[in-house]
Amino acid sequence: MAPRTLLTAGITGVGMSFPEKRLTNADLEKIVDTNDEWIVERTGIKERRIAEKGVGSSFHGAKAAQAAMEHAGIKAEDVDLIIVPTVTPDMLFPATACLIQEIIGAKNAWGYDLEGACSGFLFALQNARAQVEAGHAKKVLVIGTEVMSSILDWTDRNSCILFGDGAGAVVVEAVDESRGGIIDALNHIDGIGGKFLNMKAGGSLMPASAETVAQNLHTVYQAGRDVYKYAVKGMSGITKEIVDKNNFTAQDVDLFVPHQANIRIIEAAQRRVGLEDSQVAITIDQFGNTTAASIPSALAVAHRDGRLKEGSLVVLCAFGAGFTWGSCIMRWTAP
Ligand code: UT7
Repeated sequence: MAPRTLLTAGITGVGMSFPEKRLTNADLEKIVDTNDEWIVERTGIKERRIAEKGVGSSFHGAKAAQAAMEHAGIKAEDVDLIIVPTVTPDMLFPATACLIQEIIGAKNAWGYDLEGACSGFLFALQNARAQVEAGHAKKVLVIGTEVMSSILDWTDRNSCILFGDGAGAVVVEAVDESRGGIIDALNHIDGIGGKFLNMKAGGSLMPASAETVAQNLHTVYQAGRDVYKYAVKGMSGITKEIVDKNNFTAQDVDLFVPHQANIRIIEAAQRRVGLEDSQVAITIDQFGNTTAASIPSALAVAHRDGRLKEGSLVVLCAFGAGFTWGSCIMRWTAP
């Protein structure tokens, strides 16, 4: 029988990839009845990136994965598990994890997609952590990647202004226990949220038909105000909970990396924990809400900007469709 082990998992590399094309609020003013002032004030978004037609989630997902592997100093053949949180897979099947595996040449890996909407990255990170700590996987790629522009109703100003495309990836490996690594994670779902944020057609319940297309049912539906209330409560509560539970204080936190859905939701969570602006990672102004890609790409931006050092105390949190929500606290272990 193989020996039972319990290791410590940590992030050892991060990467990101975004489409070149920028869609500014001024561009959106030409598409729907909106304005820059409303979007910035209510959401914090100034622009978002939009993938070229014919580019699926695997494209930027693979690029982000390659950057994360380079950062971690590992080769594609070393990867033994690929987890891809996404709500915009290239196809319903096969899994985007399989498509990315082929692009990057991770020929020794198995993998799967995970549907946790905006919390998908945190759920996938927890899975990666469990695999590594149990000794079942040595090097795991977690790749949040989305082409949200492919499922937006570009006539609905309530939703089309919110989202953007892009990808972020991390490598998760066993690290020496003394370095900290992933300390704790909290994750929740509550099916009460299904009616407030969804894409109704294209699944087994309502397969694609001329009617579903005519009714725009293959696009994001969001009851924004309802989701907002739950999101503020969920993100604030679970961020405070994970900090308190692990006996840290607001001053101990080096970087808070929240899901980037709305600057006002982030500020509410920040206030609840008692964090200063300098402790918070904000990318929503540049990229909008990139769903499962928002946290890993924000980590990659923070790394690029020199905001993450060995041992930095990092707190992640997210809230999304389902409802789903979660938080994670770790000591930074990437070079
Ligand atoms: O990432 C997954 C989880 N999702 C979230 O966390 C998103 C949660 N929700 C939100 O972030 C916010 O609810 C939104 C940003 C979506 C909307 O902000 P809001 O402050 O809740 O606005 P609202 O929906 O209550 O709309 C206020 C007004 C309405 O006009 P009336 O009815 O007061 O006359 C809307 O029609 O703003 C109007 N409006 C707009 N005006 C200009 C809605 N969208 C727009 C727009 N431009 N794009």
